[in-house]
Amino acid sequence: MTITLKNVHYAYPDSLDKPVLNIPDWVVGSQEQVFVHGPSGCGKSTLLNLLSGMLAPTVGELSILDKRLDQMGQHQRDRFRANHIGYVFQQFNLISYLNALENIQLATHFGKHGRSGVKQNEIEALLEKLNVSPADWNKQANTLSIGQQQRVAIARALINKPELLIVDEPTSSLDQHNRDNFMSLLMPLAAENNITLVFVSHDLSLSRYFKRIDALSDISCLKGDE
Ligand SMILES: Nc1ncnc2c1ncn2[C@@H]1O[C@H](COP(=O)(O)OP(=O)(O)OP(=O)(O)O)[C@@H](O)[C@H]1O
Ligand SMILES: [Mg+2]
Repeated sequence: MTITLKNVHYAYPDSLDKPVLNIPDWVVGSQEQVFVHGPSGCGKSTLLNLLSGMLAPTVGELSILDKRLDQMGQHQRDRFRANHIGYVFQQFNLISYLNALENIQLATHFGKHGRSGVKQNEIEALLEKLNVSPADWNKQANTLSIGQQQRVAIARALINKPELLIVDEPTSSLDQHNRDNFMSLLMPLAAENNITLVFVSHDLSLSRYFKRIDALSDISCLKGDE
């Protein structure tokens, strides 16, 4: 199993009396591609932050690739994320003053292959695969179009060959055409690289790209009715 959650509760420290998530049992198998949907504010990003180790469960067992993240400290979780998890953020979160290539190179510094492990030509091949043309590689991220930024963000998430890819509603600011482009680049790359994919969105029209579709309200029950 890539992901196993057992009796995971999460409440933000400033509102401990109002848990955001209560997940009795949720499992995602290796190489599954799961679409998780739910309305704004229901806890989708919080779930992804738990899976990636940016947050730790308040209570409960959370294993990723058979490692207990709930038993690790922040530093170990950061290391684990750098080595095993790719993350595409809602706003892409590229570093605006670095160019496209530098944004990806920076990710490789922190990854499991280390400073010299990912060759420049691997980065270039990935960018070409994602239709980012060489003319754009040296452009500062904040001067790239939204479509180009999303493709650079996918490259950054994939360059360290993660076993798990987490994608947080990256299409919400895109028009239909770019949304379809994004999905048709992402899905085959995940499959080709045998990556487990957890993709969250409130946009149910994207669910057609997935075989497995989970409502967050089915994963997480907040009324103590587990
Ligand atoms: N850092 C934080 N501190 C306190 N509460 C937070 C924090 N981040 C989120 N919350 C609260 O947790 C709940 C879930 O938020 P979350 O961001 O996970 O929702 P979401 O499903 O991702 O929403 P959206 O679709 O709008 O992105 C919300 O009620 C939100 O107000
Ligand atoms: Mg969110």
